[in-house]
Amino acid sequence: MLYHIEIWGCQMNEHDAEILGGLIEREGYVRTDDPSRADLICLYTCCVREKAEAKVLGRIGQLRREKKERPGLILAVGGCMTQQKQVARYISTHFKGVDIIFGTHNLHRFGEMLSQVRQDNRALLEVWDNEGAEIAENLPAARSGTIKGYVNIIYGCNNFCSYCIVPYVRGRERSREPDEIEAEVRDLLDKGYQEIMLLGQNVNSYGRGLSREITFGGLLRRLDRLGTYRLRYMTSHPRDFNEELLEAIRESPNVCRQFHLPLQSGSTRILKEMRRGYTQESYLALIRRIYELFPEASLSTDIIVGFPGETEEDFEETLEVVEKARFDQAFTFLYSPREGTPAAEMEDQVPEEVKADRFARLLDLQNRISLSKNQAMTGQVYEVLVEGPSRSNGSVMAGRTEGNKVVNFPGPEELTGQLVPVEITEAKTWSLYGRIRGGKA
Ligand code: 5AD
Ligand code: SF4
Repeated sequence: MLYHIEIWGCQMNEHDAEILGGLIEREGYVRTDDPSRADLICLYTCCVREKAEAKVLGRIGQLRREKKERPGLILAVGGCMTQQKQVARYISTHFKGVDIIFGTHNLHRFGEMLSQVRQDNRALLEVWDNEGAEIAENLPAARSGTIKGYVNIIYGCNNFCSYCIVPYVRGRERSREPDEIEAEVRDLLDKGYQEIMLLGQNVNSYGRGLSREITFGGLLRRLDRLGTYRLRYMTSHPRDFNEELLEAIRESPNVCRQFHLPLQSGSTRILKEMRRGYTQESYLALIRRIYELFPEASLSTDIIVGFPGETEEDFEETLEVVEKARFDQAFTFLYSPREGTPAAEMEDQVPEEVKADRFARLLDLQNRISLSKNQAMTGQVYEVLVEGPSRSNGSVMAGRTEGNKVVNFPGPEELTGQLVPVEITEAKTWSLYGRIRGGKA
């Protein structure tokens, strides 16, 4: 029996899908990358923007048609999109042929759901209202790589930024016990993983509500002692990025000097409407402090254009902040109204063509900055963690710098999983090219 998983959305979903895979393998299935050979196809979905949802619906329609020719095929749809009850119901009534619909909170029950459906031969819709009293621990994971490993540290989000659906589908903040986290990181390091990515919607809230007092900075210090490896985390909230955390990072050599700090907007007025809890000034002060402490820091951000009520002046303030912060990379999004969030109800929604125009201008500015920051790296040597042959050009190897930038370079496949010094010879907006320095070529 073969299974196949398709994933939409963030790293959190990628890791959930690894757990889903682990649960399915426990039921005796083997993974395949080819959906046409699979006996079980799972879609693990995202609802952060409408576009993601539309794509999933299109894919369900396609698979349902295929199922007519392959009646034994089991189709499952889960994750953030189906955690919204109205969406789960919509799929179950309009897309007959989907066998299992589940949410985010009952992912750990997928094995049972699967055996039930196989036994009864009847469709199953199970979406939990809330996240349950305890975090499910000791779940198996079919990890998708052997070099970089994901580890959850905190689930859910209490922030309720006014545009965001995540707190509604991921529930309230729950931190995992530090002992559980440490054990998982140790296990991955023992297995030879070189990089650990700590996951949470807002990692800075880590520790709140745990019986023993610990902060995110404290957790980083504790994990830093476990070996020599790269330690990253995703996502930070600029409001909660304090001196104590900066100090912990400074004293933890394994923690990458890479900062992902979602700006969302450069206008203090819009930030207030978004309920972000910081201002343009405090955000820029944080960036200055980071560059002061870590001159080599690599910075990235998320920005939404066209939030309701965003004027040309507000948008220009975003451009100004982008200009000043000089992000290495920015993930830019068109504002997408999400049902049930306060911003979707706001009156002055920005017309699509205005959003598109602003988006293009922002992208243009950021591309210029990304290119110039990459160009400044040429001639210098960086430690690159080699991930394997490049996906776009298999004749070269690809890896990442500590700042998380992709570097392509000629070299043997055996270097996969190793740290090698690479001199940057050419810079593009999205990637770098180089050659190995020293005797390793
Ligand atoms: N519309 C557009 N972008 C959004 N994001 C979150 N909600 C929305 C929305 N309704 C973006 C934010 C967040 C990233 C993961 O997705 O920038 O940081
Ligand atoms: Fe959404 Fe804000 Fe929570 Fe991030 S911090 S998941 S943007 S509500």
